[in-house]
Amino acid sequence: MAKTLVLYYSATNTTKQIAKQVAQKLAADIAEIHAAQPYTTADLDWHDSTSRTSIEQHDHNSRVAIKEDFPDISGYDNIVIGHPIWWAIPPRMIADLIDKLDLNGKNLALFATSGGTNYDRSQSFIERAIKENNYDTKVNQGAVLNRAGQIDPWLASLSLA
Ligand SMILES: Cc1cc2nc3c(=O)[nH]c(=O)nc-3n(C[C@H](O)[C@H](O)[C@H](O)COP(=O)(O)O)c2cc1C
Repeated sequence: MAKTLVLYYSATNTTKQIAKQVAQKLAADIAEIHAAQPYTTADLDWHDSTSRTSIEQHDHNSRVAIKEDFPDISGYDNIVIGHPIWWAIPPRMIADLIDKLDLNGKNLALFATSGGTNYDRSQSFIERAIKENNYDTKVNQGAVLNRAGQIDPWLASLSLA
């Protein structure tokens, strides 16, 4: 039987709640991703143009390291990644996560939670990160899942192994 792993990053637990429901519905394993340098409340202040997230998210070249505690994904067919949307795109550490996972041969699907922004720019961000790594990966269309009722329709749209 195909195996699925849900990986998520969540700064304030919103994505975490959705990730748990997604994992349960997929009978998947689940693991949390951490930033090498955790984000403080001040770091997350998007009203402050000098906050850490404001600077990182607006710098196209910024690379934000994840903590090296992420699981070995070699035994999984499907990888599902959940994240918040920051300034219309995933936190830049999601690019570092993609760099560090060997996604060759995997089915990949991403979801986010947000204050209302849709998944369009996040999808482009993810597809670019996959391309930069030359991974042979099936990238499903991601979605913003802000309500539990949005989970089932999204899961039904995926092509997972
Ligand atoms: C730094 C920062 C930037 C954000 N930018 C956006 C945004 O561009 N669009 C949006 O709809 N929500 C934005 N949000 C809101 C989050 O996406 C939303 O609260 C999300 O559900 C948080 O998930 P979490 O609790 O798992 O971290 C932002 C939040 C933060 C902290």
